[in-house]
Amino acid sequence: MELLFFSFPPSSPLLPQTCYDSQVPFLVITPILFSSLFLLSLVLLVLLSSHQWRHHPKGKLLPPGSMGWPYIGETLKLYTENPNSFFANRQKRYGEIFKTHILGCPCVMISNPEAARIVLVTQAHLFKPTYPPSKEKMIGPEALFFHQGAYHSRLKKLVQAALLPSAIRGSVSEIEQIVLNFLPTWENTTINTLQEMKRYAFDVAMISAFGHKRDTEMKGIKQLYQCLEKGYNSMPLDLPGTLFHKAMKARKQLNETLRRLIQEGRENEKEGGGLLGNLLGANIHKVDKLSDSQIADNLIGVIFAAHDTTASVLTWVLKYLHDNGDLLEAVTREQEGIQRKIIEENRRLTWDDTRHMPLTTRVIQETLRRASILSFTFREAVQDVEFEGYYIPKGWKVLPLFRTIHHCADFFPRPEKFDPSRFEVPPRPNTFIPFGNGVHSCPGSELAKLEMLILLHHLTTRYRWQVVGDEDGIQYGPFPVPKRGLPVKVTPYKK
Ligand code: HEM
Ligand SMILES: *[C@@H]1O[C@H](CO)[C@@H](O)[C@H](O)[C@H]1NC(C)=O
Ligand SMILES: *[C@@H]1O[C@H](CO)[C@@H](O)[C@H](O)[C@H]1NC(C)=O
Repeated sequence: MELLFFSFPPSSPLLPQTCYDSQVPFLVITPILFSSLFLLSLVLLVLLSSHQWRHHPKGKLLPPGSMGWPYIGETLKLYTENPNSFFANRQKRYGEIFKTHILGCPCVMISNPEAARIVLVTQAHLFKPTYPPSKEKMIGPEALFFHQGAYHSRLKKLVQAALLPSAIRGSVSEIEQIVLNFLPTWENTTINTLQEMKRYAFDVAMISAFGHKRDTEMKGIKQLYQCLEKGYNSMPLDLPGTLFHKAMKARKQLNETLRRLIQEGRENEKEGGGLLGNLLGANIHKVDKLSDSQIADNLIGVIFAAHDTTASVLTWVLKYLHDNGDLLEAVTREQEGIQRKIIEENRRLTWDDTRHMPLTTRVIQETLRRASILSFTFREAVQDVEFEGYYIPKGWKVLPLFRTIHHCADFFPRPEKFDPSRFEVPPRPNTFIPFGNGVHSCPGSELAKLEMLILLHHLTTRYRWQVVGDEDGIQYGPFPVPKRGLPVKVTPYKK
């Protein structure tokens, strides 16, 4: 079942599922469901297969590949093979652009950097983002990642403005303070790395969403948000007692809490910090105001996009540093150099310090490449599209495969090796896209890197961590992370 998460992490707005995922709870795909799907597919076989290719214009070729059985398509194969080899085998057989069929959706997979760029950047208007309806409902349908065109670009500008280096450089001390509060609680105990990193990344996300902390309100929002998150992974069945139902209830309460904050902001007519301040600022200065729910949906959306992603990457950073002792020592030396300077100058860590951490920065880059926690993203053709000599029918899903591009030996020799030195020369254009590319690329990339650097500064100079247990495996929760969330024993570091 783990494999399901790998390809269709159900809890990320960034990695949506399939055409009718809201009806198909991945977690409960049992053999029974499979066999009923199978029967259904037999019944619909003729109907669907004639429908599928009816619009296929003469002389235009669909990409190569096997569609498997209509309806079930190659889903069974994807679930029974390691997803990495699923993609690799097909790429070997059909090339870098191939078609397949996953849970009822005809898909075109893309692992060529130039072709991925066409989908995400140059012809982005032909490929819209596509997300499961249940996820849209839970995050909030007006969050920017569900949209295209004018509304999307308006929101994107506001979100980006709140996350630019110039906007976040002032939060270094605040983020550092969060780290300094966390670290002592880890000393001499065994922590679940993923869980702790989630708590850290959540606190940072709250600052970037709401600006300076108002503790009582933040506590309430945190609780409701956690309830929402639990239901996000669950079957989208809105019946009393289900996790989904509880999550939707929490979402309603979040609506109310956020509406209060937004109203307060409107009345005060002064712009607070963070994304909320920016969104309210847009209200104050423009005739064309954002509604309460537009603001609320985007606040929740950003918190959502920010914390699981960053926490999963940080967990991998700790794993790779643990497994590569020489590298850990080299990173520690780099950070000790900065520490000495800070002590000499009798000041605290600054934004500029974080710009002088070349090795630590390369470790983060290599982690983003090697772990590629967002294996791919989804788009949908908004019309029939001619693409690299092929024809992609309207409604087909198009999946740029980030992980496959990051693991291509032509661009990253010996791709399985964890080797930060490969980033001493910049990667070829469009081959390194951990934060996506084009109009929907990640506005939070600088914040994500910043919070990782700040944590690593204090962690490497003061502590060591020993992985508990010797399982070397991957779990999908929903992003790929080391088994059991990487339990580690943290001890003080003595030189
Ligand atoms: C290491 C951590 C992170 C990774 C790997 C990551 C990766 C990505 C990727 C690949 C996309 C594009 C998805 C697509 O094109 O379909 C994306 C979008 C997005 N990310 Fe991140 N992200 C991270 C952290 C963050 C943080 C910290 C924030 C906010 C503070 C954030 C906010 C967003 C938002 C709002 C979008 C949607 C943008 C749009 O649709 O225009 N992310 N992220
Ligand atoms: C953790 O253990 C070390 C070495 O045994 C000890 O010096 C230190 O005081 C301990 N720290 C805490 C917080 O218990
Ligand atoms: C939140 O409030 C908006 C109206 O401002 C409403 O359209 C939306 O359905 C509400 N969401 C939930 C989950 O209740």
